[in-house]
Amino acid sequence: MPKQEGAPAAQPRGRDPRSRPAPDKAPPSGKRPSTLIIGSEVQPFAKTGGLADVLGALPPALDRLGWDATVALPRYRGVTAGALVDAFPVTVGGYTRDAGFFETPLAGHARALLVDCPDLYDREALYGVDAGDYPDNPRRYAFLARAALEFAARRGTVPSIVHAHDWQAGLAPVYLRTLYAAHPMLGGMPSVLTIHNLAYQGVFAADWLPALDLGWELFTIDRLEYWGRISFLKGGVLEADFITTVSPRYAEEIQTPELGFGFDGILRSRRADLRGILNGIDTREWDPPHDPFLPAPFDVKDLSGKRDAKIALLKRYGLAADTGAPARPLVGIVSRMIDQKGFDLIAALVDDLPRLDASFVVLGTGEARYQDLWKALAARYPDRIGAHIGFDESLAHLIEGGADIFLMPSRFEPCGLNQMYSMRYGTVPVVHAVGGLADTVHDYGLAAPGPGNGGPGDSRATGFVFHEYSPAAMLGALTRALTLFADGRRWHALQVAGMQQDFSWDRSAREYVKIYERAIGQRAAKADATSKGKGDK
Ligand code: ADP
Ligand code: GLC
Repeated sequence: MPKQEGAPAAQPRGRDPRSRPAPDKAPPSGKRPSTLIIGSEVQPFAKTGGLADVLGALPPALDRLGWDATVALPRYRGVTAGALVDAFPVTVGGYTRDAGFFETPLAGHARALLVDCPDLYDREALYGVDAGDYPDNPRRYAFLARAALEFAARRGTVPSIVHAHDWQAGLAPVYLRTLYAAHPMLGGMPSVLTIHNLAYQGVFAADWLPALDLGWELFTIDRLEYWGRISFLKGGVLEADFITTVSPRYAEEIQTPELGFGFDGILRSRRADLRGILNGIDTREWDPPHDPFLPAPFDVKDLSGKRDAKIALLKRYGLAADTGAPARPLVGIVSRMIDQKGFDLIAALVDDLPRLDASFVVLGTGEARYQDLWKALAARYPDRIGAHIGFDESLAHLIEGGADIFLMPSRFEPCGLNQMYSMRYGTVPVVHAVGGLADTVHDYGLAAPGPGNGGPGDSRATGFVFHEYSPAAMLGALTRALTLFADGRRWHALQVAGMQQDFSWDRSAREYVKIYERAIGQRAAKADATSKGKGDK
Protein backbone atom coordinates (compact mmCIF):
# COMPACT_ATOMS: atom_id res chain seq x y z
CA MET A 1 0.00 0.00 0.00
CA PRO A 2 1.47 3.36 -0.91
CA LYS A 3 2.44 5.56 1.98
CA GLN A 4 2.33 8.90 0.20
CA GLU A 5 -0.41 11.17 1.36
CA GLY A 6 0.23 14.04 -0.97
CA ALA A 7 2.23 14.65 -4.09
CA PRO A 8 5.95 15.48 -3.91
CA ALA A 9 6.70 18.93 -2.64
CA ALA A 10 7.38 21.76 -5.04
CA GLN A 11 7.45 25.48 -4.95
CA PRO A 12 4.20 27.17 -5.81
CA ARG A 13 4.52 29.55 -8.67
CA GLY A 14 2.98 32.97 -8.94
CA ARG A 15 0.96 34.19 -11.84
CA ASP A 16 2.32 33.01 -15.15
CA PRO A 17 4.03 35.97 -16.84
CA ARG A 18 2.73 35.04 -20.25
CA SER A 19 -0.43 36.77 -21.21
CA ARG A 20 -3.62 34.74 -21.28
CA PRO A 21 -6.54 35.57 -23.52
CA ALA A 22 -8.28 38.70 -22.27
CA PRO A 23 -10.87 37.67 -19.69
CA ASP A 24 -14.46 38.41 -20.46
CA LYS A 25 -15.59 40.97 -17.90
CA ALA A 26 -19.31 40.27 -18.21
CA PRO A 27 -20.87 38.98 -14.98
CA PRO A 28 -21.90 35.33 -14.99
CA SER A 29 -25.47 34.83 -15.97
CA GLY A 30 -27.59 33.31 -13.21
CA LYS A 31 -29.30 31.04 -15.73
CA ARG A 32 -26.24 29.08 -16.75
CA PRO A 33 -25.66 25.78 -14.99
CA SER A 34 -22.64 26.06 -12.74
CA THR A 35 -19.91 23.88 -11.34
CA LEU A 36 -17.74 24.42 -8.31
CA ILE A 37 -14.45 22.65 -8.96
CA ILE A 38 -12.22 22.01 -5.94
CA GLY A 39 -8.57 20.97 -6.18
CA SER A 40 -5.14 21.54 -4.74
CA GLU A 41 -3.24 22.93 -7.73
CA VAL A 42 -4.26 24.99 -10.74
CA GLN A 43 -2.22 26.58 -13.52
CA PRO A 44 -1.02 29.33 -13.52
CA PHE A 45 -1.12 29.65 -9.71
CA ALA A 46 0.43 26.47 -8.33
CA LYS A 47 1.73 23.36 -10.01
CA THR A 48 3.63 20.19 -9.22
CA GLY A 49 2.16 18.05 -12.01
CA GLY A 50 -0.57 17.44 -14.53
CA LEU A 51 -3.44 18.10 -12.11
CA ALA A 52 -2.60 21.80 -12.34
CA ASP A 53 -2.69 21.74 -16.14
CA VAL A 54 -6.08 20.03 -16.07
CA LEU A 55 -7.65 22.35 -13.51
CA GLY A 56 -6.33 25.39 -15.37
CA ALA A 57 -7.83 24.26 -18.68
CA LEU A 58 -11.08 22.52 -17.70
CA PRO A 59 -12.97 25.60 -16.36
CA PRO A 60 -12.51 27.63 -19.57
CA ALA A 61 -13.47 24.56 -21.63
CA LEU A 62 -16.66 24.15 -19.58
CA ASP A 63 -17.32 27.85 -19.98
CA ARG A 64 -17.19 27.43 -23.75
CA LEU A 65 -19.95 24.84 -23.36
CA GLY A 66 -22.16 27.29 -21.51
CA TRP A 67 -21.24 26.34 -17.96
CA ASP A 68 -20.35 28.78 -15.24
CA ALA A 69 -17.15 27.30 -13.79
CA THR A 70 -15.28 28.27 -10.63
CA VAL A 71 -12.17 26.42 -9.51
CA ALA A 72 -11.25 26.76 -5.83
CA LEU A 73 -7.70 26.21 -4.57
CA PRO A 74 -5.55 27.45 -1.68
CA ARG A 75 -3.85 30.80 -2.01
CA TYR A 76 -0.39 29.41 -1.48
CA ARG A 77 2.69 31.50 -0.74
CA GLY A 78 3.74 33.62 -3.68
CA VAL A 79 0.31 33.78 -5.30
CA THR A 80 -0.69 37.41 -5.65
CA ALA A 81 -3.51 37.12 -8.16
CA GLY A 82 -7.11 37.98 -7.43
CA ALA A 83 -9.33 40.59 -5.86
CA LEU A 84 -10.79 40.07 -2.41
CA VAL A 85 -14.50 39.35 -2.81
CA ASP A 86 -15.43 37.97 0.60
CA ALA A 87 -13.97 37.17 4.02
CA PHE A 88 -15.49 35.25 6.88
CA PRO A 89 -14.41 32.81 9.57
CA VAL A 90 -14.37 29.14 8.67
CA THR A 91 -14.39 26.48 11.37
CA VAL A 92 -13.23 22.90 10.97
CA GLY A 93 -13.38 20.73 14.09
CA GLY A 94 -13.00 23.67 16.46
CA TYR A 95 -10.17 25.23 14.44
CA THR A 96 -11.38 28.66 13.36
CA ARG A 97 -9.58 31.04 11.06
CA ASP A 98 -10.60 34.02 8.98
CA ALA A 99 -10.60 32.98 5.36
CA GLY A 100 -10.16 35.49 2.54
CA PHE A 101 -11.64 34.74 -0.86
CA PHE A 102 -9.84 36.14 -3.88
CA GLU A 103 -11.38 35.81 -7.31
CA THR A 104 -9.51 36.10 -10.55
CA PRO A 105 -10.81 35.52 -14.06
CA LEU A 106 -9.57 32.67 -16.21
CA ALA A 107 -10.99 32.73 -19.74
CA GLY A 108 -14.58 33.70 -20.51
CA HIS A 109 -16.73 33.59 -17.38
CA ALA A 110 -14.52 30.94 -15.78
CA ARG A 111 -12.72 32.04 -12.65
CA ALA A 112 -10.40 30.84 -9.94
CA LEU A 113 -11.29 31.25 -6.28
CA LEU A 114 -8.16 31.47 -4.16
CA VAL A 115 -8.81 30.64 -0.53
CA ASP A 116 -6.51 32.61 1.71
CA CYS A 117 -5.59 31.35 5.16
CA PRO A 118 -1.93 32.14 5.88
CA ASP A 119 -1.77 29.80 8.86
CA LEU A 120 -2.50 26.87 6.54
CA TYR A 121 -1.25 27.88 3.12
CA ASP A 122 1.55 30.40 3.48
CA ARG A 123 4.22 27.71 3.49
CA GLU A 124 7.40 26.84 1.68
CA ALA A 125 5.75 24.18 -0.49
CA LEU A 126 2.35 22.88 -1.49
CA TYR A 127 2.21 19.57 0.33
CA GLY A 128 5.33 19.19 2.41
CA VAL A 129 9.07 19.53 2.58
CA ASP A 130 11.89 16.98 2.41
CA ALA A 131 11.19 15.92 5.97
CA GLY A 132 7.75 14.75 4.85
CA ASP A 133 4.22 15.87 4.22
CA TYR A 134 2.84 18.63 6.44
CA PRO A 135 1.26 16.84 9.40
CA ASP A 136 -1.83 19.05 9.28
CA ASN A 137 -2.61 18.27 5.63
CA PRO A 138 -5.96 16.74 6.66
CA ARG A 139 -6.97 20.08 8.17
CA ARG A 140 -5.47 22.11 5.31
CA TYR A 141 -7.56 20.34 2.69
CA ALA A 142 -10.69 19.87 4.80
CA PHE A 143 -10.56 23.64 5.30
CA LEU A 144 -10.33 24.18 1.55
CA ALA A 145 -13.44 22.07 0.90
CA ARG A 146 -15.38 23.70 3.72
CA ALA A 147 -14.37 27.22 2.77
CA ALA A 148 -15.26 26.67 -0.90
CA LEU A 149 -18.67 25.16 -0.09
CA GLU A 150 -19.54 27.81 2.49
CA PHE A 151 -18.48 30.56 0.12
CA ALA A 152 -20.84 29.12 -2.50
CA ALA A 153 -23.68 28.93 0.03
CA ARG A 154 -23.21 32.59 1.05
CA ARG A 155 -23.51 33.70 -2.56
CA GLY A 156 -27.15 32.72 -2.65
CA THR A 157 -26.85 31.03 -6.05
CA VAL A 158 -25.26 27.72 -5.23
CA PRO A 159 -23.60 25.67 -7.98
CA SER A 160 -25.52 22.96 -9.80
CA ILE A 161 -22.76 20.48 -8.98
CA VAL A 162 -19.50 20.15 -7.05
CA HIS A 163 -16.55 18.58 -8.85
CA ALA A 164 -13.83 17.38 -6.47
CA HIS A 165 -10.34 16.35 -7.61
CA ASP A 166 -8.09 13.79 -5.94
CA TRP A 167 -7.83 13.06 -2.24
CA GLN A 168 -7.29 16.72 -1.35
CA ALA A 169 -10.93 17.42 -2.28
CA GLY A 170 -12.20 13.97 -1.30
CA LEU A 171 -14.05 15.29 1.73
CA ALA A 172 -16.23 17.64 -0.32
CA PRO A 173 -18.64 14.84 -1.37
CA VAL A 174 -18.49 13.51 2.22
CA TYR A 175 -19.44 16.86 3.76
CA LEU A 176 -22.29 17.25 1.27
CA ARG A 177 -23.74 13.92 2.43
CA THR A 178 -23.12 14.46 6.14
CA LEU A 179 -22.54 17.88 7.67
CA TYR A 180 -24.41 19.77 4.93
CA ALA A 181 -27.04 17.11 4.10
CA ALA A 182 -29.81 19.26 5.58
CA HIS A 183 -28.22 22.61 4.76
CA PRO A 184 -30.77 24.93 3.09
CA MET A 185 -28.44 25.77 0.21
CA LEU A 186 -26.01 22.84 0.01
CA GLY A 187 -28.28 19.94 1.00
CA GLY A 188 -28.87 17.47 -1.82
CA MET A 189 -26.18 18.96 -4.05
CA PRO A 190 -24.70 16.32 -6.39
CA SER A 191 -20.98 15.77 -6.69
CA VAL A 192 -18.44 14.14 -8.97
CA LEU A 193 -14.99 12.99 -7.88
CA THR A 194 -12.14 12.73 -10.37
CA ILE A 195 -9.17 10.50 -9.57
CA HIS A 196 -5.98 11.74 -11.17
CA ASN A 197 -3.70 9.27 -9.44
CA LEU A 198 -4.82 6.43 -7.22
CA ALA A 199 -1.38 6.15 -5.66
CA TYR A 200 -2.20 9.15 -3.48
CA GLN A 201 -5.07 8.26 -1.17
CA GLY A 202 -5.01 10.82 1.64
CA VAL A 203 -4.64 8.26 4.43
CA PHE A 204 -4.49 9.61 7.99
CA ALA A 205 -4.90 8.50 11.60
CA ALA A 206 -8.53 7.85 12.53
CA ASP A 207 -8.42 10.29 15.42
CA TRP A 208 -8.50 13.08 12.88
CA LEU A 209 -12.24 12.42 12.49
CA PRO A 210 -13.50 14.78 15.24
CA ALA A 211 -10.98 17.43 14.16
CA LEU A 212 -12.62 17.31 10.72
CA ASP A 213 -16.20 17.51 12.05
CA LEU A 214 -16.81 13.91 11.01
CA GLY A 215 -18.57 11.48 13.35
CA TRP A 216 -17.17 8.13 14.42
CA GLU A 217 -20.08 6.48 12.63
CA LEU A 218 -18.09 7.15 9.47
CA PHE A 219 -15.29 4.92 10.74
CA THR A 220 -16.64 1.83 9.00
CA ILE A 221 -15.48 -0.19 6.04
CA ASP A 222 -18.21 1.17 3.78
CA ARG A 223 -17.42 4.82 4.61
CA LEU A 224 -13.99 6.29 5.41
CA GLU A 225 -12.20 3.51 7.30
CA TYR A 226 -9.18 2.15 5.44
CA TRP A 227 -6.98 -0.45 7.14
CA GLY A 228 -7.52 1.06 10.58
CA ARG A 229 -7.05 4.63 9.36
CA ILE A 230 -9.19 7.00 7.31
CA SER A 231 -8.83 7.79 3.63
CA PHE A 232 -10.07 11.05 2.13
CA LEU A 233 -10.06 9.43 -1.30
CA LYS A 234 -12.15 6.49 -0.15
CA GLY A 235 -14.67 8.87 1.37
CA GLY A 236 -14.91 10.74 -1.91
CA VAL A 237 -15.21 7.57 -3.99
CA LEU A 238 -18.04 6.24 -1.84
CA GLU A 239 -19.99 9.48 -1.40
CA ALA A 240 -19.76 11.13 -4.83
CA ASP A 241 -22.61 10.56 -7.28
CA PHE A 242 -20.14 9.71 -10.06
CA ILE A 243 -16.45 8.96 -10.13
CA THR A 244 -14.29 9.68 -13.10
CA THR A 245 -10.66 9.07 -13.84
CA VAL A 246 -8.46 10.56 -16.50
CA SER A 247 -8.39 7.89 -19.22
CA PRO A 248 -10.63 4.99 -20.23
CA ARG A 249 -7.78 2.49 -19.88
CA TYR A 250 -6.96 3.66 -16.35
CA ALA A 251 -10.64 3.36 -15.40
CA GLU A 252 -10.33 -0.36 -16.19
CA GLU A 253 -6.87 -0.81 -14.68
CA ILE A 254 -7.80 0.61 -11.27
CA GLN A 255 -10.41 -2.09 -10.87
CA THR A 256 -7.66 -4.75 -10.92
CA PRO A 257 -5.46 -5.79 -7.98
CA GLU A 258 -2.32 -4.99 -10.03
CA LEU A 259 -3.08 -1.29 -10.48
CA GLY A 260 -5.84 -0.74 -7.93
CA PHE A 261 -3.47 0.20 -5.08
CA GLY A 262 -5.78 -1.54 -2.60
CA PHE A 263 -8.81 0.36 -3.97
CA ASP A 264 -9.79 -2.12 -6.68
CA GLY A 265 -12.59 -3.68 -4.61
CA ILE A 266 -13.94 -0.27 -3.59
CA LEU A 267 -13.91 0.86 -7.21
CA ARG A 268 -15.50 -2.34 -8.48
CA SER A 269 -18.31 -1.77 -5.99
CA ARG A 270 -18.96 1.53 -7.81
CA ARG A 271 -18.20 0.49 -11.35
CA ALA A 272 -21.68 1.46 -12.59
CA ASP A 273 -20.83 5.06 -11.70
CA LEU A 274 -17.18 5.05 -12.79
CA ARG A 275 -16.07 6.55 -16.12
CA GLY A 276 -12.74 7.21 -17.82
CA ILE A 277 -12.56 10.62 -19.50
CA LEU A 278 -9.31 11.31 -21.31
CA ASN A 279 -7.73 14.62 -20.36
CA GLY A 280 -7.39 17.24 -23.01
CA ILE A 281 -4.44 19.54 -23.33
CA ASP A 282 -4.40 23.31 -23.28
CA THR A 283 -3.80 23.93 -26.96
CA ARG A 284 -3.13 27.63 -26.38
CA GLU A 285 -0.46 27.10 -23.73
CA TRP A 286 1.11 24.28 -25.72
CA ASP A 287 1.12 25.53 -29.27
CA PRO A 288 4.29 25.40 -31.39
CA PRO A 289 3.27 28.25 -33.74
CA HIS A 290 2.68 30.56 -30.75
CA ASP A 291 4.97 29.31 -27.99
CA PRO A 292 6.94 32.17 -26.42
CA PHE A 293 9.47 29.69 -25.04
CA LEU A 294 10.58 28.52 -28.50
CA PRO A 295 13.21 30.41 -30.49
CA ALA A 296 11.11 30.16 -33.67
CA PRO A 297 7.54 29.13 -34.39
CA PHE A 298 6.80 25.97 -36.36
CA ASP A 299 3.79 24.00 -37.47
CA VAL A 300 2.86 20.86 -39.32
CA LYS A 301 3.47 22.50 -42.72
CA ASP A 302 6.89 23.84 -41.87
CA LEU A 303 8.95 22.12 -39.22
CA SER A 304 12.11 24.13 -39.80
CA GLY A 305 11.65 26.04 -36.51
CA LYS A 306 11.95 22.73 -34.71
CA ARG A 307 15.58 22.55 -35.73
CA ASP A 308 16.15 25.97 -34.14
CA ALA A 309 14.55 24.67 -30.97
CA LYS A 310 16.84 21.64 -31.01
CA ILE A 311 19.96 23.76 -31.34
CA ALA A 312 18.74 26.12 -28.60
CA LEU A 313 18.04 23.14 -26.38
CA LEU A 314 21.44 21.53 -26.96
CA LYS A 315 23.08 24.85 -26.14
CA ARG A 316 20.94 25.39 -23.05
CA TYR A 317 22.24 22.06 -21.72
CA GLY A 318 25.80 22.82 -22.82
CA LEU A 319 25.83 19.85 -25.21
CA ALA A 320 27.66 19.80 -28.51
CA ALA A 321 25.54 21.79 -30.97
CA ASP A 322 27.88 22.25 -33.91
CA THR A 323 28.85 20.18 -36.98
CA GLY A 324 27.10 16.81 -36.90
CA ALA A 325 25.55 17.09 -33.43
CA PRO A 326 22.12 18.41 -34.47
CA ALA A 327 21.73 15.43 -36.84
CA ARG A 328 22.00 12.98 -33.96
CA PRO A 329 18.60 12.05 -32.45
CA LEU A 330 17.83 13.89 -29.22
CA VAL A 331 15.79 12.12 -26.56
CA GLY A 332 13.94 14.31 -24.03
CA ILE A 333 12.44 13.55 -20.62
CA VAL A 334 10.35 15.92 -18.47
CA SER A 335 9.11 14.12 -15.42
CA ARG A 336 8.73 13.74 -11.72
CA MET A 337 11.67 11.42 -10.95
CA ILE A 338 9.84 8.61 -9.22
CA ASP A 339 9.21 4.93 -9.83
CA GLN A 340 5.77 5.63 -11.32
CA LYS A 341 7.47 7.31 -14.23
CA GLY A 342 9.68 4.33 -15.12
CA PHE A 343 12.92 5.61 -13.66
CA ASP A 344 13.69 2.14 -12.37
CA LEU A 345 13.80 0.91 -15.98
CA ILE A 346 16.09 3.77 -16.89
CA ALA A 347 18.32 2.99 -13.91
CA ALA A 348 18.64 -0.60 -15.10
CA LEU A 349 19.90 0.69 -18.45
CA VAL A 350 22.57 3.17 -17.28
CA ASP A 351 25.24 1.34 -19.22
CA ASP A 352 23.12 0.76 -22.33
CA LEU A 353 21.62 4.20 -22.93
CA PRO A 354 24.97 6.00 -23.44
CA ARG A 355 25.94 3.38 -26.03
CA LEU A 356 23.04 4.42 -28.26
CA ASP A 357 23.74 6.90 -31.00
CA ALA A 358 21.60 9.54 -29.32
CA SER A 359 21.80 12.54 -27.01
CA PHE A 360 19.64 12.91 -23.90
CA VAL A 361 18.20 15.93 -22.09
CA VAL A 362 16.38 15.41 -18.83
CA LEU A 363 14.35 17.80 -16.67
CA GLY A 364 12.84 16.76 -13.38
CA THR A 365 12.86 16.58 -9.63
CA GLY A 366 12.13 13.71 -7.34
CA GLU A 367 13.92 10.91 -5.58
CA ALA A 368 17.56 11.65 -4.80
CA ARG A 369 18.77 8.36 -6.30
CA TYR A 370 17.29 9.22 -9.69
CA GLN A 371 18.49 12.82 -9.59
CA ASP A 372 21.98 11.54 -8.73
CA LEU A 373 21.87 8.97 -11.49
CA TRP A 374 21.17 11.59 -14.16
CA LYS A 375 23.69 14.02 -12.70
CA ALA A 376 26.34 11.29 -12.82
CA LEU A 377 25.47 10.38 -16.41
CA ALA A 378 25.66 14.04 -17.43
CA ALA A 379 29.05 14.41 -15.75
CA ARG A 380 30.33 11.32 -17.51
CA TYR A 381 29.06 12.18 -21.00
CA PRO A 382 29.07 15.99 -21.00
CA ASP A 383 28.76 16.34 -24.77
CA ARG A 384 25.73 14.03 -25.12
CA ILE A 385 23.78 13.87 -21.84
CA GLY A 386 22.34 16.86 -20.02
CA ALA A 387 20.44 16.83 -16.74
CA HIS A 388 18.59 19.73 -15.16
CA ILE A 389 17.28 18.99 -11.69
CA GLY A 390 14.50 21.44 -10.92
CA PHE A 391 11.10 22.64 -12.03
CA ASP A 392 11.23 24.89 -15.06
CA GLU A 393 8.15 25.55 -17.16
CA SER A 394 10.03 27.31 -19.97
CA LEU A 395 12.57 24.52 -20.27
CA ALA A 396 9.75 21.96 -20.37
CA HIS A 397 8.39 23.77 -23.45
CA LEU A 398 11.81 23.93 -25.08
CA ILE A 399 12.31 20.19 -24.56
CA GLU A 400 8.94 19.41 -26.12
CA GLY A 401 9.90 21.66 -29.02
CA GLY A 402 13.54 20.71 -29.48
CA ALA A 403 13.71 16.97 -28.78
CA ASP A 404 13.15 14.39 -31.51
CA ILE A 405 11.92 11.66 -29.20
CA PHE A 406 10.12 11.91 -25.85
CA LEU A 407 10.69 9.01 -23.47
CA MET A 408 7.87 8.22 -21.03
CA PRO A 409 8.23 4.63 -19.81
CA SER A 410 5.78 4.94 -16.87
CA ARG A 411 5.01 1.85 -14.83
CA PHE A 412 1.48 3.23 -14.56
CA GLU A 413 0.07 6.46 -15.94
CA PRO A 414 -3.48 7.61 -15.23
CA CYS A 415 -3.39 9.86 -18.28
CA GLY A 416 -0.09 11.62 -18.85
CA LEU A 417 0.06 14.95 -20.60
CA ASN A 418 3.62 15.10 -21.85
CA GLN A 419 3.12 12.45 -24.50
CA MET A 420 0.27 14.57 -25.90
CA TYR A 421 2.34 17.76 -25.73
CA SER A 422 5.12 15.85 -27.52
CA MET A 423 2.91 14.75 -30.39
CA ARG A 424 1.67 18.32 -30.81
CA TYR A 425 5.30 19.45 -31.07
CA GLY A 426 6.32 16.79 -33.60
CA THR A 427 8.32 14.97 -30.93
CA VAL A 428 7.74 11.24 -31.22
CA PRO A 429 6.80 9.54 -27.93
CA VAL A 430 8.22 6.23 -26.74
CA VAL A 431 5.88 4.92 -24.05
CA HIS A 432 4.86 1.91 -21.98
CA ALA A 433 1.42 0.59 -22.98
CA VAL A 434 -0.42 1.59 -19.84
CA GLY A 435 -3.24 3.94 -18.81
CA GLY A 436 -3.53 7.11 -20.83
CA LEU A 437 -0.29 6.35 -22.66
CA ALA A 438 -1.92 3.30 -24.22
CA ASP A 439 -5.03 5.34 -25.03
CA THR A 440 -3.16 8.13 -26.80
CA VAL A 441 -0.09 6.67 -28.57
CA HIS A 442 -0.37 4.21 -31.46
CA ASP A 443 2.65 2.04 -32.10
CA TYR A 444 4.54 2.40 -35.36
CA GLY A 445 4.52 -1.34 -35.64
CA LEU A 446 6.83 -4.27 -35.44
CA ALA A 447 7.76 -6.43 -38.39
CA ALA A 448 4.41 -8.17 -38.11
CA PRO A 449 1.11 -6.62 -37.11
CA GLY A 450 0.01 -7.60 -33.59
CA PRO A 451 -2.20 -6.42 -30.76
CA GLY A 452 -2.04 -2.64 -30.60
CA ASN A 453 -0.08 -2.17 -33.79
CA GLY A 454 -0.92 -2.30 -37.43
CA GLY A 455 2.47 -3.22 -38.80
CA PRO A 456 5.18 -0.93 -40.13
CA GLY A 457 3.92 2.37 -41.40
CA ASP A 458 0.46 1.92 -39.86
CA SER A 459 -1.24 5.18 -40.82
CA ARG A 460 -2.62 5.59 -37.29
CA ALA A 461 0.87 5.32 -35.83
CA THR A 462 2.08 8.21 -33.69
CA GLY A 463 4.93 6.70 -31.65
CA PHE A 464 6.55 3.60 -30.20
CA VAL A 465 4.88 1.49 -27.55
CA PHE A 466 6.27 -1.36 -25.46
CA HIS A 467 4.08 -3.81 -23.61
CA GLU A 468 6.18 -5.70 -21.07
CA TYR A 469 7.41 -3.49 -18.25
CA SER A 470 11.08 -4.42 -18.55
CA PRO A 471 14.36 -2.67 -19.35
CA ALA A 472 14.79 -4.83 -22.46
CA ALA A 473 11.35 -3.95 -23.82
CA MET A 474 11.95 -0.24 -23.22
CA LEU A 475 15.34 -0.42 -24.89
CA GLY A 476 13.75 -2.28 -27.79
CA ALA A 477 11.15 0.46 -28.36
CA LEU A 478 13.75 3.20 -28.07
CA THR A 479 16.01 1.40 -30.51
CA ARG A 480 13.14 1.04 -32.98
CA ALA A 481 12.55 4.78 -32.72
CA LEU A 482 16.23 5.58 -33.27
CA THR A 483 16.32 3.29 -36.29
CA LEU A 484 13.31 4.94 -37.89
CA PHE A 485 14.76 8.38 -37.18
CA ALA A 486 17.39 7.62 -39.80
CA ASP A 487 14.62 7.25 -42.39
CA GLY A 488 13.78 10.94 -42.84
CA ARG A 489 10.66 10.47 -44.93
CA ARG A 490 8.98 7.92 -42.66
CA TRP A 491 10.01 9.85 -39.57
CA HIS A 492 8.45 13.00 -40.94
CA ALA A 493 5.20 11.12 -41.62
CA LEU A 494 5.16 9.93 -38.01
CA GLN A 495 5.72 13.47 -36.73
CA VAL A 496 2.91 14.80 -38.91
CA ALA A 497 0.52 12.07 -37.75
CA GLY A 498 1.19 13.06 -34.12
CA MET A 499 0.80 16.76 -34.85
CA GLN A 500 -2.57 16.15 -36.45
CA GLN A 501 -4.08 14.43 -33.40
CA ASP A 502 -6.88 16.32 -31.71
CA PHE A 503 -6.33 16.36 -27.95
CA SER A 504 -8.21 19.60 -27.36
CA TRP A 505 -10.25 20.00 -24.20
CA ASP A 506 -13.61 20.51 -25.86
CA ARG A 507 -14.21 16.81 -26.44
CA SER A 508 -13.27 15.93 -22.82
CA ALA A 509 -15.28 18.81 -21.38
CA ARG A 510 -18.35 17.54 -23.23
CA GLU A 511 -17.91 14.20 -21.47
CA TYR A 512 -17.78 15.95 -18.10
CA VAL A 513 -20.94 17.88 -18.93
CA LYS A 514 -22.70 14.58 -19.69
CA ILE A 515 -21.70 13.24 -16.27
CA TYR A 516 -22.72 16.48 -14.56
CA GLU A 517 -26.12 16.35 -16.24
CA ARG A 518 -26.66 12.73 -15.26
CA ALA A 519 -25.75 13.41 -11.64
CA ILE A 520 -28.03 16.46 -11.51
CA GLY A 521 -30.84 14.53 -13.22
CA GLN A 522 -30.56 11.60 -10.81
CA ARG A 523 -30.67 13.88 -7.79
CA ALA A 524 -33.63 15.79 -9.18
CA ALA A 525 -35.48 12.52 -9.82
CA LYS A 526 -34.79 11.36 -6.26
CA ALA A 527 -35.92 14.66 -4.80
CA ASP A 528 -39.04 14.43 -6.90
CA ALA A 529 -39.74 10.91 -5.73
CA THR A 530 -39.22 11.96 -2.11
CA SER A 531 -41.54 14.91 -2.40
CA LYS A 532 -44.19 12.63 -3.86
CA GLY A 533 -43.79 10.46 -0.77
CA LYS A 534 -42.13 7.58 -2.62
CA GLY A 535 -39.08 7.56 -0.35
CA ASP A 536 -35.47 8.41 -1.09
CA LYS A 537 -33.79 5.01 -1.12
P1 ADP B 1 2.13 13.88 -13.53
O1 ADP B 1 1.00 14.79 -13.23
O2 ADP B 1 1.91 12.49 -13.05
O3 ADP B 1 3.45 14.41 -13.08
P2 ADP B 1 1.57 14.51 -16.34
O4 ADP B 1 2.23 14.04 -17.59
O5 ADP B 1 0.10 14.45 -16.29
O6 ADP B 1 2.24 13.73 -15.13
O7 ADP B 1 1.89 16.03 -16.11
C1 ADP B 1 3.13 16.51 -15.77
C2 ADP B 1 3.12 18.00 -15.97
O8 ADP B 1 4.13 18.58 -15.14
C3 ADP B 1 3.43 18.42 -17.38
O9 ADP B 1 2.85 19.66 -17.66
C4 ADP B 1 4.96 18.56 -17.32
O10 ADP B 1 5.47 19.37 -18.34
C5 ADP B 1 5.14 19.14 -15.96
N1 ADP B 1 6.41 18.88 -15.33
C6 ADP B 1 6.81 17.77 -14.66
N2 ADP B 1 8.04 17.93 -14.16
C7 ADP B 1 8.44 19.16 -14.52
C8 ADP B 1 9.62 19.93 -14.31
N3 ADP B 1 10.64 19.42 -13.63
N4 ADP B 1 9.68 21.18 -14.81
C9 ADP B 1 8.63 21.68 -15.51
N5 ADP B 1 7.50 21.02 -15.76
C10 ADP B 1 7.39 19.78 -15.26
C1 GLC C 1 -1.80 12.74 -12.34
C2 GLC C 1 -1.35 11.56 -13.18
C3 GLC C 1 -1.17 11.89 -14.64
C4 GLC C 1 -2.31 12.75 -15.15
C5 GLC C 1 -2.48 13.97 -14.27
C6 GLC C 1 -3.61 14.86 -14.73
O1 GLC C 1 -0.76 13.51 -11.90
O2 GLC C 1 -0.17 10.98 -12.66
O3 GLC C 1 -1.10 10.71 -15.39
O4 GLC C 1 -2.06 13.13 -16.48
O5 GLC C 1 -2.76 13.57 -12.97
O6 GLC C 1 -4.84 14.18 -14.76
